[in-house]
Formats: sequence, C-alpha cells, structure tokens
Amino acid sequence: MSGQIETPADAGLLNAPVGQIAASRAGAASVFQTFGIDFCCQGKRTLAEALAGQGIAPSPVLAALMSAAAEPLDDWRDAPTPALIDHIKTRYHAVHLAELPNLRDLAAKVEATHRKHPAVPDGLAETLSRMIAELRLHQQREEVVLFPLLAQGGGEMARAAIQVMRAEHEDHGAVLAGIEAITGGRVAPQGACATWRALYLGLGKFHDDLMMHVHLENNVLFPRFEAEEEAGEGNPASGANH
Ligand SMILES: [Fe+2]
Ligand SMILES: [Fe+2]
Repeated sequence: MSGQIETPADAGLLNAPVGQIAASRAGAASVFQTFGIDFCCQGKRTLAEALAGQGIAPSPVLAALMSAAAEPLDDWRDAPTPALIDHIKTRYHAVHLAELPNLRDLAAKVEATHRKHPAVPDGLAETLSRMIAELRLHQQREEVVLFPLLAQGGGEMARAAIQVMRAEHEDHGAVLAGIEAITGGRVAPQGACATWRALYLGLGKFHDDLMMHVHLENNVLFPRFEAEEEAGEGNPASGANH
C-alpha cells in the first residue's frame, strides 16, 4: 500500500475515514459506489483500510477522487438539522416506500416467468418484501422517535436511539448484499426481457439511494448529536451542531 502513496494529498485521503470523505468531497460518493466501497455502514474505516479489506488498488480510486473534485458537491454538512431531516424524509424515506413494492412485483414476475433460467434471481421477491417491512419499521422509528428528539437538540435518549438506528443500517447493508448475490451484481443475462432489465435498473437506483440515505444519517446527521469519542477520532466535520 505505502508504495502507492505519491503525494501528501493522497496520504491525507488514504488516512481519512471514507464516510468523512464522502461527506466533504464532491463526487466521492459516486466514486465509492463505482468501486464498490461501502462509505455508509462502514464509514468510519479509513480509505486505506477499506481498500486493503477489499483488495482494491489505491491508484485508480485516488485518481478518480482527484478528478471528481471538480464536480459541484451536494453538501448537507452545513445545512440546519430540520432541513436535513426534511430532505431525508422526502428524498429517501418516501421514495423507497414508493418504489420498492413495484420492484418486488417485477421480481415476482421475473422469477415466475423465467423459473428455469440459470440466472433467475431466485428468492428476490421475498428478499424485497423483507426489505420493505424492515424499512417501513425503521423509517417510522426515525420519523416518530429519533428525528423529533434531534429537532429538540438531541440528548441521552437520542444517542441511544442513534445506536439502534446504526445497527439497523447494518442490517439494511446485509439485505443489499443479499440482493447483489441473488442477482449476480444486478447484471441481466444476454437477451433478458425488458421486465428483467427494468427490474435490475430499478434495483440499481434503490441501491444507490439507500447508500446515500444511510450515508447522510450515519456520516452527516448522527455525528452532530453523538459524544466526541463516538463521532470518530480527528473528524473535524463531526462538531457541527445546528
Ligand atoms: Fe432514514
Ligand atoms: Fe436510517
């Protein structure tokens, strides 16, 4: 690894937590998604740790991060907490629950129609049903319990609720990984019908949306209300409290 470090900027990136990079650097989230680097549930790992853990060479990732920096950043770090919560509810909570039932129905159709195809996504509709049920409960807990506590300034109960939400985010990550396994990385086979292709395109959007959703909560919203030692060592962005 160390042989790949060429500049102080590279070294700085490699030693920074991936969640912090995604929150502070334009285009970083989409670079991480391209390379399959988890920046939401495992956002506290440094980039060097994430790359080593997944056996990814640093050079192309660093180059992509450097060139992505020219893009404008959809930056919520300095947004007031009520505006950020509102964005999470309308852009992610409502959108997941609007889109997932349709994806589950498409999955059921593909599984039934192509039952004998070797690449059939066996069990996908059932997995999506589980995801819908999990998200419905999780998002309700955030909207009814946690977000009102945060809007009032946080505190002990809010910190306890945040810990539960972080654990549930890891469960979402496990279901996403299951979907990736069932669908072979969401790659439709040669000659797949339009329904199959539409299903995998929709799953791709859901995957990216859920990663950004959890990223905004784990790496931008929650650290505002967590104790310093819980927010990640040396994380200058974690002090923001609006
Ligand atoms: Fe949420
Ligand atoms: Fe959440």
